[in-house]
Amino acid sequence: MSASKPYPGLSVPDEDAIVAEMLGMVARYSQSFPTHKPSRPAPQKHTILLTGATGVLGATLLSLLVPTPEVARIYVVNRRSPTGVPLLQRQMEAVAEAGFDAQEVLSSPKIVLLETNLPEERIGLSDELVEEIRNSVTHIIHNAYLVNFNVPLAGFDPNVKTLWHLCNLALASALPTPPRVMFVSTADVWSKKPVLTGPVPEIMTDARWATRGGYGESKWVCENILNEFAQNTPLCPIFMRVGQISGGQNGAWNSHDWVPAIIRSSVNCLGCLPSLDYDVPWIPGNIVAKAIIEMRDSPYMVHHLEHPRPVAWNTLFRPMADTLHIPLVPYETWLDRLEESGRTIRTPSEIEAGKRTNPAWTLINMFRGVVASSERAWRRAVGQAIMDMTHSLEVAPSLGEESCPQLTREDAVKWLHFWRSIGVLEWQVRAKL
Ligand SMILES: NC(=O)c1ccc[n+]([C@@H]2O[C@H](COP(=O)([O-])OP(=O)(O)OC[C@H]3O[C@@H](n4cnc5c(N)ncnc54)[C@H](OP(=O)(O)O)[C@@H]3O)[C@@H](O)[C@H]2O)c1
Repeated sequence: MSASKPYPGLSVPDEDAIVAEMLGMVARYSQSFPTHKPSRPAPQKHTILLTGATGVLGATLLSLLVPTPEVARIYVVNRRSPTGVPLLQRQMEAVAEAGFDAQEVLSSPKIVLLETNLPEERIGLSDELVEEIRNSVTHIIHNAYLVNFNVPLAGFDPNVKTLWHLCNLALASALPTPPRVMFVSTADVWSKKPVLTGPVPEIMTDARWATRGGYGESKWVCENILNEFAQNTPLCPIFMRVGQISGGQNGAWNSHDWVPAIIRSSVNCLGCLPSLDYDVPWIPGNIVAKAIIEMRDSPYMVHHLEHPRPVAWNTLFRPMADTLHIPLVPYETWLDRLEESGRTIRTPSEIEAGKRTNPAWTLINMFRGVVASSERAWRRAVGQAIMDMTHSLEVAPSLGEESCPQLTREDAVKWLHFWRSIGVLEWQVRAKL
């Protein structure tokens, strides 16, 4: 049988072409820079502009910013709902799902809740609001982002453009120093780093290391646009390369993520969970949010954010297997079953149904990539590199041992109960004998 050829007009982009596209995007958004013209005194308290508070991390950030005494006001900018659900309702649901008292959080007079088209100039804000923001905002936390690992780089252009508009808005500030622009980046910016001889340092990375998919590539582009602003203007951006966020204080873990995908496919279709001999540095969302808030006046541009005290994969998967009453099997066995389960998925309606019942199958390439590596000493589960956290540990006390203890079986079981509570996971509870 001859090797399969790409369809006419379609090809797999090579790494050089992707790198050229990434560099082109950085150049496009770094052609010119506004001048910062301060005209007002520095405020006593902090005013935050937060984007994307309807997501898990954003809702947690909002809920923790409200009681922060130094924070006087929070402009919360969300995108519009495609289905017309009122903004307050969406925001309350997100805050409640993240495990906070939505009534209490959203009744705070500090909050100004806004809904805009983010990729528009001045992120779609009215003249009046822009004036208020110019005169008061001290920190911008840019968290809104398309989290989809199947979208190519070009599909993230609206997200990149939003970041660029935020940088321009920051430089339009009337305050003596422009707001700190804080960008929630990802560990994916070095997911293809070829040689690991130690933890990845908190420095700018090579474009090639990010070329595993459009999501990481676009985050690399954003980091490099911020770096251009830092080199050419008084802006002092901060970006946090976040590793895997796990369930927060109530176990709330984004159900579209790859870990819940493993659990859902395992329960619905495969009848087993994978065992792996790797550590996981997953960090609860409430600790990530606390650390980001603590980093807001950091003297450093680059921060890494993963759990400083990882645990073995099976410390979490063994209790999940016990709770779900399915066996823990060698990773290769689990992967074979996943490959087999996808063989019957062919038609568009089967693919749609597959996304719901067998979501791990849609991420099969990622799971195929989990292989024994000669550099495994510097790798975590699913190929992630170990990150140097020196800067982060220095500025974020929440990453300390007491406030950020190691994950335990109780955390793992809490995640399962959370997914069950929102209707994405079902299992038979067996009576104790
Ligand atoms: N979860 C992780 O493990 C992880 C790891 C590393 C980095 N991060 C980063 O952390 C941030 C928050 O992630 P999350 O896990 O909280 O994700 P999430 O629950 O999917 O929330 C994403 C937020 O961004 C908004 N959003 C999604 N697509 C958008 C678009 N095209 N334009 C404008 N806004 C959009 C969402 O609004 P709607 O509610 O309207 O959809 C939501 O408010 C993201 O920047 C993500 O890249 C997350």
